[in-house]
Amino acid sequence: MTSTTTPQYAISTWPDTDAVNARLQALIAQPMRPIRRDKMQEYLGYFETKCVRSRALNEEAQKYIPGGVQHNLAFNHPFPLAVERAEGAYLWDVDGNRYIDFLQAGGPTVLGSNYAPVREKVIEMLSSCGPVTGLFHEYELKLAELVHRFMPSIEMLRLLGSGTESVMAAIRIARTHTGKKKIIKVGGAYHGWSDSMVYGLHVPGTGRMEAIGIPRGASAHTQEFFPHDLGALRRLMQLNRVRGGTAAVILEPVGPESGTRPVPHDFSRQVRQLCDEFGALLIFDEVVTGFRLGMGGAQGYFGVKPDLTVLGKCISGGYPMAGAVGGRCEVMHCCAAGVGGTSKRAYVGGTLSANPLSCVAGYHALLEMERTNAPVIAGKAGDRLTKGLQAIIERLGLPFVAYNQGSIVHLETSGLMLLDFRHPLKLARELKPRKHMMEEMGAAYMARGLVTLAGSRAYTSMADSDDVIDEALNRFETVLSSVEGVG
Ligand SMILES: Cc1ncc(COP(=O)(O)O)c(C=O)c1O
Repeated sequence: MTSTTTPQYAISTWPDTDAVNARLQALIAQPMRPIRRDKMQEYLGYFETKCVRSRALNEEAQKYIPGGVQHNLAFNHPFPLAVERAEGAYLWDVDGNRYIDFLQAGGPTVLGSNYAPVREKVIEMLSSCGPVTGLFHEYELKLAELVHRFMPSIEMLRLLGSGTESVMAAIRIARTHTGKKKIIKVGGAYHGWSDSMVYGLHVPGTGRMEAIGIPRGASAHTQEFFPHDLGALRRLMQLNRVRGGTAAVILEPVGPESGTRPVPHDFSRQVRQLCDEFGALLIFDEVVTGFRLGMGGAQGYFGVKPDLTVLGKCISGGYPMAGAVGGRCEVMHCCAAGVGGTSKRAYVGGTLSANPLSCVAGYHALLEMERTNAPVIAGKAGDRLTKGLQAIIERLGLPFVAYNQGSIVHLETSGLMLLDFRHPLKLARELKPRKHMMEEMGAAYMARGLVTLAGSRAYTSMADSDDVIDEALNRFETVLSSVEGVG
C-alpha cells in the first residue's frame, strides 16, 4: 500500500519543556493548595444526593469484586460512578447525570465515544462471523497493512490482547533477537503491569517498591534511569556491557506517563543514538501516542525510527483486545505463530488475539481517523482546553500547571506525579497527602460534570467542539476558584 497524503500531527507546538519543568518544580516546592473544606463538602454532597444508584451498585459490587471496581482508572473517591451511556464527548451515569468525558476510556477513542460508523462495521462482523473463530481472518491482514502504511517502521505486526501483553512480547522479542538481557525503562513510566515492568512504577527511583507478589528474579534484569537523564542511561548501558548486555530501552516518546514529565523534543532521537552505539533495540511504547498524536504516531512526529513499536488502545478503536507489537521483519520473524514455528522462537500468543471483532474495529477506526483528520481535530481541542486552563490559572493566581502534547492535556494541581526518590524524605512525607488532593480534585471535577484521568489529565477527542471545550472551561473554573487562597 502507498500513501498519497502527508501525515498530520496533533501537536501544534511542542511545549517549552524547560519552562514547564521549572513551573512543575515550583509547584511541588510549595505547600499544597487543596479545595477549601466547605467547598469539598459541597462536592461530596453531590455524590450523596445525585448518585444514589451508583452508590447502591457499588455497595453491592463490594461483595463480589475486590474493591468494588475493576478498572484502575475508575474513580474511587468517594465511590466509583456506574456509567450507562457513552456518546461522542459525553458520558451518562446510571442516575442520569451527564458528564463531559475527558477520560475517553484512557485514550483509545480519538473519534469520540461509541462512534457510529465503526460500531456499524463491528455489528456487521458480529452478524457474519461472530467475535472469534481462532482461524485467520482477512481483517488481520488489512489492519497490519494499514498500520504499515501509517508507520513504515512496522514492517510486520503481531496482534495481542492488551498493551501489557504487547510490552511483554516486545521485551521477549528484543531479548531473543539480541541475545542480551537487560531492559532499561524511564523511572516512573507505566508500561503495563507485567512482572518485569512493575519496576520504578509511577515514582522514579522506586525500583521494586510496587512489586508486591512479584519474585525478585522476575525484574532482576529490569533497570530504570531518572527521566531525561541521558548521562545515567549511558552509564547503565556501559555497565551492562559486562552484565549481559542491554537488549532494549523502552520509552514513551513524549515522556513517561504520557508526557506527565515532558521530555525535550530531541530526547528520543538521542536515545536512538545511544541504542545504536550499544547495539540495543529501541522500543517505542506508543500505546497512548499511537494514532492519537497523528496517524504516524509519535515516531512520525519526532521523525525517529524505533526497532519495535508497542501499540494498544487506538489499534482496536476502543473495542476489546487492544494490543500489538511490530517492527522490522528480521526482528519480528522470531515470533512467528502457527503450530511448529521457527527454530529461535519467542513464544507469544493468545486465544482471542487478532480476533475479527478487534481487527474490523481497529481497521475502520483508523481509516475513519485518517479520513476525518481526527487526531488533528482532537489536538486543536487539546490546545483550546490548555490555553483556557492556563488563562484560568493565571487569572486566579494559582501555582498549578497546564500544558499539552496535542490531545493529551495535563493539569497538575497536586504535583503528585513530580515527586521522586531523589528526595526520599519529601516523598515519604508528601506522597499520601498529595495523592489525596489529586483524588479530591478529580471528585470535584466529577461533581461539576467533568470526567478526567485521575484528576490530572484530560484526553480530548474529535467530538470536543469549541462549545464543549468552553463549557468544560466554565466548569473547571468553578472548581479551581474553590481552592484554598482564592477569592
Ligand atoms: C504507555 C502505556 N503502556 C502500556 C499500557 C498498558 O496497556 P493495557 O492497559 O492495554 O494493558 C498503558 C495503559 O494505559 C500505557 O499507558
